[in-house]
This record gives sequence, structure tokens and C-alpha cells, in this order.
Amino acid sequence: MVQDYFDKVADQWDKMCCHDINNIRNLLRIADINEGCSVLDVGCGTGVLEKYILEFSPKRVKAIDMSSQMIDIARDKYEDKNVDFECIDFFSMDEKKGLFDRIVIYNSFPHFEDYESVIDKCHYLLKPMGRVLVAHDCSREEVNNLHKDIELKPVNDLPPAKSLISIFSPVFLVDSAVDDDNIYCVSGVKVG
Ligand SMILES: C[S@@+](CC[C@H](N)C(=O)[O-])C[C@H]1O[C@@H](n2cnc3c(N)ncnc32)[C@H](O)[C@@H]1O
Repeated sequence: MVQDYFDKVADQWDKMCCHDINNIRNLLRIADINEGCSVLDVGCGTGVLEKYILEFSPKRVKAIDMSSQMIDIARDKYEDKNVDFECIDFFSMDEKKGLFDRIVIYNSFPHFEDYESVIDKCHYLLKPMGRVLVAHDCSREEVNNLHKDIELKPVNDLPPAKSLISIFSPVFLVDSAVDDDNIYCVSGVKVG
């Protein structure tokens, strides 16, 4: 199970993964986080992204993950910072409709089995004109190769950005999509 796998690797996670900081900052610029924003980070893990989200001084940051071990590490890192961490499955979140200005799903998307349901839930949680960003700080090929070697199953292939755009399109206006040798992202604004 996803949760068991990440509980097991949590204390090694920050040593196992290296993140491209320039790519992270570029991705967060695409997410268009600003001072007025409430931001939800889905599958935050050990809180890698929060440090960079906070550089944009958002009004509120909520970060969720279903692995309690990952969340414990994240909480320790940000004790004195304005981040609300919660150990919860994304689909069990019962926040009010239209609560967030931005939702970021960073390096977590392939761990969800049903991509359409993830996008629908993001649509529900976002305010009108809110933005969702699915992002990886490396190429789709790198992500999919990495997942061939890990014991965690199921894990889906990250689809070509154009396939993800068609999942976004009924309810989001996609205004940014990159699927190159350096990064992967699809970003859309809630219009419907
Ligand atoms: C590959 S890790 C990425 C963690 C972090 N974003 C990073 O880049 O280091 C994926 C994370 O997504 C979380 N996750 C997967 N499915 C989830 C779900 N349904 N609800 C909440 N978290 C989930 C896992 O527990 C795991 O911590």
C-alpha cells in the first residue's frame, strides 16, 4: 500500500531524493502563489516544498499526506512556521467547497490511481479562478523510469502532458503545460 511504503521510507526520504531548486522555484512561479493566497500541498511528504512556498509569503499553507511518518518529519521541520500539516488521505478531506486559491501536487500525482477523481476533487476545493498545478522537478521519462525500480505498487505512469490536459479541460482552463527534458507540469485555472 502507498501509505505503508512511504511510512517505511520516511526517515530516509530526504537522503534518497534530491530536488532541483531552480526547477522548484520556476514551478511555483507557474503556480502563481502570492501574498493573498491560501495554498494546499497534496502529498507533501516530508515538507520539501513548504520552504519554497513560504518564500512567496502566502496567507495560509495547508499541507497534507496520508503517511503519518512523512508528516511527522515535515512537522518537525516547520514547528515555528505558518504551515498546517495534516495526516489524511486527499479523498477524505472534508474541507468546504472553494476554500483554496492554489493546489499544488508535487511529485505525488503518479501515486493516485484515478487521475480524473483527483482533478475533480481539486476543482471542488478551489475557489473560482483558483489554480491547480501538477508538477515534477524532472522529466516524465525520469519519473517513470524511477518508478520501475521501486517496490511500491500500484504506481501509474505519468501521462504525456497532452493527455493530462484533456483530463483538466472540461473544468479547468489550462494555461501552462511543460513536458520536456527538464520539468513536467500542467497548470489550469478553475473557470467552470
Ligand atoms: C513521491 S512522495 C512525494 C512527497 C513530496 N511531495 C516530495 O516531493 O518529496 C508522494 C507522497 O504522496 C503521498 N500520497 C499518495 N497518495 C496520497 C493520498 N491519496 N492522500 C494523501 N497523500 C498521498 C504519499 O504518502 C507520499 O508521501
